[in-house]
Amino acid sequence: MTATAIPGYDYGTAQVAHAPLSLADFELLKQAVMFGPDDERYLRMAGEVLADQIDDVLDLWYGFVGSHPHLLYYFTDGQGHAQNEYLAAVRRRFGQWILDTCRRPYDQVWLDYAYEIGLRHHRHKKNQTDHVQAVPHIHFRYMVAFMYPITATIKPFLAKKGHSPEEVEAMYQAWFKSVVMQVALWSAPYVASEDF
Ligand code: HEM
Repeated sequence: MTATAIPGYDYGTAQVAHAPLSLADFELLKQAVMFGPDDERYLRMAGEVLADQIDDVLDLWYGFVGSHPHLLYYFTDGQGHAQNEYLAAVRRRFGQWILDTCRRPYDQVWLDYAYEIGLRHHRHKKNQTDHVQAVPHIHFRYMVAFMYPITATIKPFLAKKGHSPEEVEAMYQAWFKSVVMQVALWSAPYVASEDF
């Protein structure tokens, strides 16, 4: 499956808005989560480890969301009807995001798409990509809260390919830092610009 074959995956295209953070400020954000070259190396390793486990990871995450009505809510019309095509469309981009988190250089193109992902969770752009009539906005408290399940649940998958406990821990820490950093970037549309 090539990246361009995923509907709505607009990485690197002109449809993606410019991030409100400069690359210089992004460097400072990296420092604030202690993200460095070793983390980049271990994310590449994580990419190799996770590449053939993407569907299993997504089954787990979707199972988690699906078993909590207050989370599944964001994939519904607000009247209790889950939008299955929406769930399926987002799932493909979510899978690509796992690979992008591990493999992409964190450059201007990546930074811009991080902004785009934030917009897509916010009323600014939610539902537009998949042309769905779902609830308009994901509440910010859950964006922050999800850092835990998205991080904690990845560790067993990182440990499945025979790496040493030290390597698994280093991949896990790099993943954790990246998720925290990305949610910080995704908070841009949620926060007044002078406060971001
Ligand atoms: C979209 C990851 C929090 C519901 C996405 C996408 C990714 C993602 C990668 C697809 C982006 C794209 O279009 O390329 C994450 C991560 C989160 C998080 C890593 C927190 C650490 C949440 C929460 C909810 C949620 C708390 C609510 C249960 C959705 C929905 C979409 C989406 C409904 C589709 C948005 C649209 O209409 O375009 N998420 N997400 N996400 N996520 Fe999240």
